[in-house]
Amino acid sequence: MRPLPVDNMASRISQPALLRVLQGETIDPPPVWLMRQAGRYLPEYRALRAKSDGFLEFCYTPAAAAEATLQPIRRFGFDGAILFSDILVVADGLGAKVEFREGEGPVLEPLTPQSLKLLKLGRVRPHLAPVYETVKRVRDALEPQRALIGFAGAPWTLACYMCEGAASRDFAAPKAWMWSDPSSFGALINLLVGATVEHLSAQVEAGADCVQLFDSWAGILPDAEFRKYVIAPTARITKALKQRHAGLRIIGFPRGAGPMIDAYARESGVDGVGLDYTMPLETGRAVQQRLPVQGNLDPILLLAGGEAMTARIGEIRKAFSGMPHIFNLGHGILPATPPEHVAALVAAVRTLP
Ligand code: CP3
Repeated sequence: MRPLPVDNMASRISQPALLRVLQGETIDPPPVWLMRQAGRYLPEYRALRAKSDGFLEFCYTPAAAAEATLQPIRRFGFDGAILFSDILVVADGLGAKVEFREGEGPVLEPLTPQSLKLLKLGRVRPHLAPVYETVKRVRDALEPQRALIGFAGAPWTLACYMCEGAASRDFAAPKAWMWSDPSSFGALINLLVGATVEHLSAQVEAGADCVQLFDSWAGILPDAEFRKYVIAPTARITKALKQRHAGLRIIGFPRGAGPMIDAYARESGVDGVGLDYTMPLETGRAVQQRLPVQGNLDPILLLAGGEAMTARIGEIRKAFSGMPHIFNLGHGILPATPPEHVAALVAAVRTLP
């Protein structure tokens, strides 16, 4: 084989491993990062967070948010840094009332077809300017071999929190609205598609190397609604983003998708699919025939640690070897997780055969 011209090869090799995998390359050992890798399980995060008045204010203080983004990179040397922010900043940017109460999680004024009219797409970028400043600072500080991952909530999941007004087990409010008044619910989804495109686009302009869409509540929808409110909005977002940013790589994480994961991988336009921890490795391997996959260790197995964790890391590595894979959890790190278990995970991913 003729060797590649030196400059071309150098530019390929200097790309972060995580991006190369999203472009279809197989890398062994796989790049690793973890959902919710910044946060309360880290003592240095708790110390930083204690200095701020509230969670949203913390997210809107670029020096603090940039520091929180970089803390897990310094400690564990992950291949990707995920912007420290929250999916609900988009709701806040649109003008919805969002609050994070200590120990209680997010509280929003439940959205109705009437209050929907008060939300403003044009407010998102100016209101979220500090988030984009955070992206810029992190990209400047991060070594070139590590990817900076921007993110947003997918429209369905954002709608869940905005309609319900809080975390919930069944999200009855958005589901009832979706079925009883599809026209105004469709208007909400349209607005969230536009807001998500703006928010992710601004992150890419500020220096994010790739982006992830969190659809944490994708799994509570029957198949027809999964197509309508998970796949279709995601496809509109990926299309618009790729028109604006040629070559941008997008990871989709439709938690709980189950057998719908195949339709999602085919039709949503994402470049990589995040697999949750309930996804059988065999099904994940079938998805991987089409697209790079990311996942899928159970976060509670990370919390438990020890032999069981190491054994499962080996199984996941083996199941996804020989094709593009990014090692990750199948949902976010839990606050009670011992940081030493995270260090052990990274070591196992990088050293297991
Ligand atoms: O390290 C990272 O992953 C980056 C930061 C990040 C946060 N939230 C910080 C955060 C990311 C990527 C998110 C995504 C997010 N936020 C999701 C999607 C992923 C998922 O978990 O399903 C969702 C649904 C939210 C909404 C949200 N934010 C909830 C339900 C809560 C309360 C529950 C909880 O974990 O406390 C939050 C608060 C939140 N977001 C915290 C952090 C670090 C804890 C608040 C604090 O530190 O005071």
